[in-house]
Amino acid sequence: MATPPPGDGARPVTIATLQAMKERGEKIASLTAYDAGFAALVDRAGVDFVLVGDSLGMVVQGHATTVPVTVDDIVYHSSMVARGLTRALIMSDLPFMSFPTPEAALANAARLMQEGGAQMVKLECHEGHAPIVERLADCDVPTCVHLGLRPQTVNKLGGYRVFGRDEATCKALIADAKRFESAGADMLLLECVASAAAKRIAEAVKVPVIGIGAGPDVDGQILVLYDIIGVTSGRRPRFAKDYMAGGRTLGEAVRAYVEEVRDGRYPAPEHGFS
Ligand code: KIV
Repeated sequence: MATPPPGDGARPVTIATLQAMKERGEKIASLTAYDAGFAALVDRAGVDFVLVGDSLGMVVQGHATTVPVTVDDIVYHSSMVARGLTRALIMSDLPFMSFPTPEAALANAARLMQEGGAQMVKLECHEGHAPIVERLADCDVPTCVHLGLRPQTVNKLGGYRVFGRDEATCKALIADAKRFESAGADMLLLECVASAAAKRIAEAVKVPVIGIGAGPDVDGQILVLYDIIGVTSGRRPRFAKDYMAGGRTLGEAVRAYVEEVRDGRYPAPEHGFS
């Protein structure tokens, strides 16, 4: 049985729907998708939004990082995903080097929305990116600001790690969250952030805060679809869960994920970081 989506399940999800879910304390469930078939599958399972993430560079294109992904790639995959959705909102990533200035960000966001069908764009941000988010918001581009681990910085960072484990970095993340909310972000996404820090961030802002490897005390969860259906090559990240276990079909696996996000069974303590 599919989980009935919150509110009026038939109505397409908007940023107002997601905001109201945060206000009512209803958990938001989300997954990535990269084509129309999987988009339709996750839409039917009741996810609230679908991300066309630059993770496609790794899970679809076979690259070692997300760095090679281009705006053309995201436009192409977004247009397929958009055709597969009836209810879920579609969010698309601004890939590496697509937002070096506010005007470049605007031009590329316009492509994602006008050619790809995106309803919201996501960008990996440090504090210097606030004017970019402001410019997008001024032009009515809905934005999700990605904080914590930013995989596009892998070549500067020299690997992947967890953020917000000590008081100083936790406070810096809270300051960033408030800064981007003031700049006009409609949503925040926290990747690999210590659970206690993520809780404080979600409490500090009014916009929905979505986590991936950020513990249970945020407003919703997102995972890379392939990580929960066993298509990942290599090691599944610690924060992902194998929903194909027990012989589930693909549809059952995605519905189980949505149900567990809604009722708080996912993420369990072992999926978070202290
Ligand atoms: O690209 C992506 O899939 C993402 C998720 C990991 C949130 O940014």
